[in-house]
Amino acid sequence: MASQENIPLLKGEAMQNIPCIENAFMLIEQGKIKSLGPMTECPDPKPFHQVQDLQDHVIIPSFVDAHTHLVFAATREEEFVDRIKGLSYQEIAAKGGGILNSAAKLSQMSEENLYELSANKLHQLACLGTGAIEMKSGYGLSLESELKILRIHKKLAQHYPGAIRSTFLGAHAIPLQYRDRREDYIRIITDEMLPVIAQEKLADYCDVFCEKGFFSLEETDLILSKASQYGLKARIHSNQFTHCGGIELALRHKALSVDHLEVLNETEIQTLAQSNTIPILLPIAAFFMNQHQGPAKQLIDNQCGIALATDFNPGTAHSGSMPFLFSLACIAMRLTPEQVLSATTVNAAYSLELEDQYGSLCPGKWASFIILQAHRDLAFIPYSMSDSWIQKIYYQGNVNDRTQKK
Ligand code: NIG
Ligand code: FE
Repeated sequence: MASQENIPLLKGEAMQNIPCIENAFMLIEQGKIKSLGPMTECPDPKPFHQVQDLQDHVIIPSFVDAHTHLVFAATREEEFVDRIKGLSYQEIAAKGGGILNSAAKLSQMSEENLYELSANKLHQLACLGTGAIEMKSGYGLSLESELKILRIHKKLAQHYPGAIRSTFLGAHAIPLQYRDRREDYIRIITDEMLPVIAQEKLADYCDVFCEKGFFSLEETDLILSKASQYGLKARIHSNQFTHCGGIELALRHKALSVDHLEVLNETEIQTLAQSNTIPILLPIAAFFMNQHQGPAKQLIDNQCGIALATDFNPGTAHSGSMPFLFSLACIAMRLTPEQVLSATTVNAAYSLELEDQYGSLCPGKWASFIILQAHRDLAFIPYSMSDSWIQKIYYQGNVNDRTQKK
């Protein structure tokens, strides 16, 4: 995944035929890639500060995780067991569990403690190769708690050697006290939360959980329209459980991505193929919920450029591990290692408008990359079913200490 020029969004066949350079050099200056190319064109190494010989090592760009809900206060294993026993996600949600359960726990935790917890999680993900990440609010569901989460996103970004994109997801669930007057909560989102978020520049995007039992098409439309007036571009959770119409709506709002897509029909695939909205599939969520995987292969066969993300959250995908996602996407979606690499680097970076800084190795981008163990190639990543393939990770030109193995 390296070239002299930036790589375009990889669609269809291009997700398989990824650009790479055999026997290459890479020159890093001030955290960025200054030049790279075949060894025959390597400049004289003498004047450089540090030279590393990485013969027999494959190097890939660090991962871009384009969909997470990283800031949450508590895990929800009791609901996990309820689901195994037969309760549905919607039944648990209707009882006040699910997202509302997470919101209640989050409101009780101080901003300091929530920050510490989140910083730890982010650090662990960095050790697994995540070099840029999107995170959504949505476990607040009140002005105070939503702002608490978004401020934590901002603070995390100050200490993370990669990019963080912050998404406002106040429309994640209707709080219990608004159940009989939904429009009042939606008004709080549009008239109270959005203005402060825009003024304090706390989010890059606005997302809505468009799904039966959560937010209707009309409500989603209203919230995204208001968000756009405040300069927040759209992303949508859609087609997780039903064909809710969120894809057409996402396109009308020129959404950067439409995410989940476990339930997708032929017409919807064709619609996505003709759009600029990037389908983001979430194989860990489908696995965790024991659902059918979204039709990743069909989307690619229909010339889409898909991205894959973890959806890390306490309810439906309790893992932010990109190595685990890599294996799962190969095994359960029948994608090739090249397709998964395209979906978790270049295409994910496009979906977060980070394509000029992350997603591939090319001059001008951050030197954020993962060095594989010697003599291991791309196929060893999903095959290993763990992170044992990682030798060392660099973020913005510096080695990530915890991954440095002797
Ligand atoms: O992406 N689908 C909506 N939101 C999350 C899950 C939220 C939860 O259950 O806590 C998701 O799967
Ligand atoms: Fe999600």
